Amino acid sequence: MAGVDGSQSLIDRHTDKFTEKATGMSDYIKVATVDEVPPGTSKLIEIDEVRIALFNLNGEFYAFEDVCTHDGGPLVEGEIVDGHLVECPRHGARFDVRTGRAVRMPAFEPTTAYAVRVEGDDVLMEAPAA
Ligand code: FES
Repeated sequence: MAGVDGSQSLIDRHTDKFTEKATGMSDYIKVATVDEVPPGTSKLIEIDEVRIALFNLNGEFYAFEDVCTHDGGPLVEGEIVDGHLVECPRHGARFDVRTGRAVRMPAFEPTTAYAVRVEGDDVLMEAPAA
């Protein structure tokens, strides 16, 4: 799949697809192991063609749709600033990683956030609406 900017390799490097359902957790999907996303890093997940950015901020995991609401930039590739904000690599909008809320122009609308929890070594994410 080509990236927003046409970059194939960057998308492939960050992408994993997961279909495994966590046992007994029908509303949550395993999207990573804790070791795969060390503190201060992020990972792109794709679930049913929905791009999800998974972030680890100091051991706390957060997930939201990987689409900047300004013009579709890949937030998973953005830099973390001020400890909990991600800056869109395209035009510099900032989003609160904890909530998906846009906090700096040129974006105004939030991106869709998903609940995340850790069970053992697994990172589980609320399944996106079908
Ligand atoms: S696409 Fe993100 S700031 Fe423009």
